Amino acid sequence: MALKICVLASGRGSNFSAIINSIKSKTCDAQILCLITDNSFAAALDIAAQNKIPAHALSRKDFASSEDFENEILLLLDKYSPDLVVLAGYMRIIRSKQILQKYKIINIHPSLLPKYPGAQAQKDAFLAGEKISGLTIHLVDESLDGGPIIYQQEVNISDCKSADEVSDKILSFEHKAYPSVIDKISKGEIKLSNY
Ligand code: GRF
Repeated sequence: MALKICVLASGRGSNFSAIINSIKSKTCDAQILCLITDNSFAAALDIAAQNKIPAHALSRKDFASSEDFENEILLLLDKYSPDLVVLAGYMRIIRSKQILQKYKIINIHPSLLPKYPGAQAQKDAFLAGEKISGLTIHLVDESLDGGPIIYQQEVNISDCKSADEVSDKILSFEHKAYPSVIDKISKGEIKLSNY
């Protein structure tokens, strides 16, 4: 049975789009219940609308505290009751213990963690002169990009002449890897309870 997922994204949503396309082409056995974003200008919202996926845009500034903001996300997740929460360029650290304890959450990060956590991973790898970087898909806990690793893939970036080229190259691998890992979770080939 298709894995029921909610996607959280803050920006352009290219990984969100890649997951949608893989579901359509039946290479990812999942059903997207909704998109949740913290950015009402996120291009991910347009992608959701084009694909008739329910979308919810919440703005942190409309809430008195981060706790209140995350409680609203928790209410939404409880409404949809997904098997898995998928972070796809969601730029906030989830701190709510209730969300973290109740839901399995995965994230994709554009480096070979634990190397280069944080928001500038591709630039950091490029400036460090790395020849090989890559991507990591991991379970989300309260740490920054520090949860248990479920999948990693190396990407040769020695031909990249800028940090932007590194980002683009790794992103093209992300678009294949993320739907594929979600598919493996759906089929029980990756068991999140083992991590
Ligand atoms: C990707 O590079 C991903 O690894 C990171 O944020 C970026 C999101 O890109 N977590 P997009 O919004 O999916 O295009």
